[in-house]
Amino acid sequence: MKSKLAINGGEKAVNLDRQHYVWPPITERTREAVLRQLEESISIYDRSGIIERLEDKFAHYHGKKHALLTNSGTSALHSMYVGANLKEGDEVICPAYTFYASVTPLFFTGAIPVLADSKDNGNINPEDIERKITGNTKGIAITHMWGMPCDMDAITEIARQYNLMLFEDASHAHGAVYRGRKVGTFGDVSAFSLQAQKTLTGGEGGVLLTDNDEIFYRALLLGHYNKRCKNEIPEDNKLRQYAITGMGLKLRIHPMAAAIADEQFDNLETILENRRKIAKSMMKELRGLPGIEIPNIPNDIEPSWYAFIMQYKPEELGRLSIEKFYEALKAEGCVELDRPGSTCPLNYHQLFQNPVLLFPGYKDKVSYKRGDFPKAEKFHEHSLKLPVWHELKDRDIIESYVNAFKKVIEKYHELL
Ligand SMILES: Cc1ncc(COP(=O)(O)O)c(C=O)c1O
Repeated sequence: MKSKLAINGGEKAVNLDRQHYVWPPITERTREAVLRQLEESISIYDRSGIIERLEDKFAHYHGKKHALLTNSGTSALHSMYVGANLKEGDEVICPAYTFYASVTPLFFTGAIPVLADSKDNGNINPEDIERKITGNTKGIAITHMWGMPCDMDAITEIARQYNLMLFEDASHAHGAVYRGRKVGTFGDVSAFSLQAQKTLTGGEGGVLLTDNDEIFYRALLLGHYNKRCKNEIPEDNKLRQYAITGMGLKLRIHPMAAAIADEQFDNLETILENRRKIAKSMMKELRGLPGIEIPNIPNDIEPSWYAFIMQYKPEELGRLSIEKFYEALKAEGCVELDRPGSTCPLNYHQLFQNPVLLFPGYKDKVSYKRGDFPKAEKFHEHSLKLPVWHELKDRDIIESYVNAFKKVIEKYHELL
């Protein structure tokens, strides 16, 4: 490559005059679905219309008894923990590295999040889960980070052996498969986000999945008072007496969001298939380049490819800092390259260092600090994230991004 690095005044490696990455795909069919919903209803109190259709579709896709739509993934996670009837002082072992909403709803239950460190791929380490188990442990929460399924054989075995509940946050992993089984189906209860960046989206929204009636009824009571509780909690169930008010929150999804997610659902398998093809070609092109390590995918796992996460290896590029490497790639035109910020080790957040001003009951119960989770912190500090494109026509963009990586890596000494 003859041109100088763009950061030093050379030509950009990525020179395309169109948006590099467009998500979600909004088509004529999406517009029609929204207009149809606008005519049908914009507020649904019970499990009818688009709510019933999408919940049935989601439950059927995963082979689960109950799906419950919510207004966000955070609300689905909140419903998951409340559904499990956690009590003050119960401990739930959670990933140190995840988006905070996987864990923060626990603060509203009185249960204590006990963080466990990561493996080399950023997912929770089953060995650290086992080390953190005490007599108060009630459950294990996991997140399939960036669409990569966690070690489900080891984790389900620990949950079985110690009789613990398993909570899955599958917000990054719609349609991901571990040894022939979809993620989100391993837990006693699981939660998904349908927020705009997610592989299945309604713009905003969430879904809870469970086979367990009691969890479902409590989740209904948290955010779906009156009609749904009256219609769906059997009259002879002791929780039915609270049907009118529920627990007093309202977490219903907007019907328009449900209509969008329902329409997007029909494309999910095609999108997953295309992302898998494209991720394979990205891996092929980037494998073996010094300075970056591409994801390692075991044969029996199909990630959802929510993102393509590489690990930067400064020791292979003369200790060039990740900041300089990243800036050089941005200057080459890789506008979609990202260093995740708010998804980070939870011990970096004030809420997990000292939650007391917001949650007084957590005094001396949660007090993490930087340095507590070396693996999670290393993974985060060295992460570089690309989207995984979903349309084969975007191959020229991917090719130019790969060229940018090759160029910066070849000329890294110009940055030292
Ligand atoms: C892993 C994970 N869990 C939960 C959430 C929260 O979902 P929502 O934004 O729909 O509330 C997100 C992101 O948005 C996420 O990335």
